[in-house]
Amino acid sequence: MFELTVILKQPKQKSRIGAAKGRDSMASALAGLVPLSFLLLLVGCASRPLYPLPGKRYDASKKPLQTFRPYNLAHRGSNGEFPEETAAAYMRAIEEGADFIEGDVLASKDGVLIMQHDVTLDDTTDIAEHKEFANRKRTCNVQGTNTTGFFHFDFTLEELKSLGVKQRYPFRDQQYNGKFPIITFKEFISIALDAPRVVGIYPEIKNPAMVNQYVKWPGGKKFEDKFVETLHKYGYRGEYMSKQWLKQPAFIQSFAPTSLIYVSNLTDLPKVFLIDDITIPTQDTNQSYWEVTSDKYLNFIKNYVMGIGPWKDTIVYVSENYLQPPTDLVARAHALNLQVHPYTYRNENQFLHFNFSQDPYKEYDYWINTIGVDGLFTDFTGSLHQYQEWTTPSPSGEKSATKLLDKIGSMISKYRNPQT
Ligand SMILES: *[C@@H]1O[C@H](CO)[C@@H](O)[C@H](O)[C@H]1NC(C)=O
Ligand SMILES: *[C@@H]1O[C@H](CO)[C@@H](O)[C@H](O)[C@H]1NC(C)=O
Ligand SMILES: *[C@@H]1O[C@H](CO)[C@@H](O)[C@H](O)[C@H]1NC(C)=O
Ligand SMILES: *[C@@H]1O[C@H](CO)[C@@H](O)[C@H](O)[C@H]1NC(C)=O
Repeated sequence: MFELTVILKQPKQKSRIGAAKGRDSMASALAGLVPLSFLLLLVGCASRPLYPLPGKRYDASKKPLQTFRPYNLAHRGSNGEFPEETAAAYMRAIEEGADFIEGDVLASKDGVLIMQHDVTLDDTTDIAEHKEFANRKRTCNVQGTNTTGFFHFDFTLEELKSLGVKQRYPFRDQQYNGKFPIITFKEFISIALDAPRVVGIYPEIKNPAMVNQYVKWPGGKKFEDKFVETLHKYGYRGEYMSKQWLKQPAFIQSFAPTSLIYVSNLTDLPKVFLIDDITIPTQDTNQSYWEVTSDKYLNFIKNYVMGIGPWKDTIVYVSENYLQPPTDLVARAHALNLQVHPYTYRNENQFLHFNFSQDPYKEYDYWINTIGVDGLFTDFTGSLHQYQEWTTPSPSGEKSATKLLDKIGSMISKYRNPQT
């Protein structure tokens, strides 16, 4: 059984009322939720790293990555259940069958790469309760828009680690709010490498133009350089499906084409170009949706990327919450040998279009069997995994049965009369 070590956030001050109680209820809540598999280690010593840094390397006895069916991409971990991009969310996703754990890389003021989705801390952490940081709130220009809030690049790693991550949506489980810290990119990698089978990583170079504007590294290094350096340091190398890649699979994703092209000079790891909604231009080239989904552009970008990651509602438009006829985007991408990994699949009825009768399995069936995508970013890895196990179980069972029959056949043949 997969034993997980979840390390809870340190209560920073005595004044964080209920912190100790929170720990106990966390432990019992988790024990009830995932019996046997979650082993909680509650750390009391502030000097200990919150998660052991990457050490484990490839272990040939690990079950390999499945490559016979579309990839289950755990979007910000199992964030349908646990606060996004925390160790708990990622470990839960691994336990539930994720092929890849997905997350967003940003940087702290002191240049440490961290896992957080939003450019500000406001919606997914308890920053509002930290009065000591109240004066850090400010307005910054993020891709042409003035955005006000608490920005990661105004906080050192140590300060960021004093915050607790919280659930973004009010209709999701709130009991873990504030209980898990922000993790670093290295800690994220470490969680994947420590998994009991081969689990890939799918990190996003998040808002690179903004990060490079506000965070400076020694030697004039860029955010992208640090990002790729970290991947290489921990053994992530090689083209898609190469021997090395299969040992430690990774996809690099970004909404910023200039960044992807720059990174393609640094690493041959496969890259995925994310495509936003129809009304939103690309991050660092200000190109329209129509331009970047044209055959001409896809033909250009395929020199740098192995796939695209569009928002699903731009592949199949939606009107009054009903699906419209599908566009030809998937067919055109496939014709150019580009994979398609759409985002984001979510179980809740708020996100399910009426055609799916409030049934997330029906949605997976449509996207996998009618549209034919190659990977799916989901907030509920467990649901996608169960769906795939029931509809497309691993062919290995069948293979070993055939092998056994062959073996029996050859054994029997030894006893056959040589004249017949
Ligand atoms: C953003 O803020 C700056 C400085 O306050 C101001 O000059 C600029 O007009 C603002 N831009 C937008 C798009 O609101
Ligand atoms: C890639 O590297 C080559 C050789 O160092 C350099 O000439 C080229 O400008 C680089 N391309 C990008 C996009 O950085
Ligand atoms: C992006 O392109 C749009 C449309 O061409 C233009 O109106 C806008 O000013 C551009 N924005 C930037 C930041 O260049
Ligand atoms: C979704 O429902 C709408 C409205 O009934 C219908 O027009 C459309 O064909 C349906 N799409 C799919 C893929 O079932």
